[in-house]
Amino acid sequence: MATAPAASAVAATPAAPATPAPSAKSAGAGGAAPYTVEGGTKVDPATMEGFRTWRAAACDRCHGANQEGMVGPSLIASLKTLSKQDFTTTVLEGRLAKGMPTFKTSPQVVAHIDDLYAYLKGRSDGAITAAKVSPIQ
Ligand code: HEC
Repeated sequence: MATAPAASAVAATPAAPATPAPSAKSAGAGGAAPYTVEGGTKVDPATMEGFRTWRAAACDRCHGANQEGMVGPSLIASLKTLSKQDFTTTVLEGRLAKGMPTFKTSPQVVAHIDDLYAYLKGRSDGAITAAKVSPIQ
């Protein structure tokens, strides 16, 4: 299950944005971002649920511990262009012929699909700077 080869990519991916992304915070950025993040790794309750769902559904076994991609594509890259609707459809219906399973049978994923998107969008935007997040106090 948890294979090692992602380790080398770990150091390379998360630290990237030296310049703050325009959408780094939901408040004050026109409300465009679906997440709120403080200090790179403290997130709002909904985004926190997204992270828990990511963990519970074990998306990392195909997309990498840092969303950098393994047998599945990098979601850091994908969510820069994939619409929220296409994200939702892909995760719930899967792309079975291409190795992406369906998650519509997972009550947690179904209930928290928006939260999952928010978490992954924050990672893709570079606003959430590490895969592991904790709640804003
Ligand atoms: C068994 C391996 C596997 C698991 C587990 C998995 N995926 Fe995937 N996923 C893939 C593969 C392979 C693709 C590429 C499908 C294709 O070529 O269109 C993919 C594609 C995607 C895409 C579309 C990317 C794009 O650029 O179009 C998204 C979004 C995605 N996965 C999200 C998730 C999420 C979220 C989870 C956990 C809930 C998850 N995946 C779990 C293998 C997996």
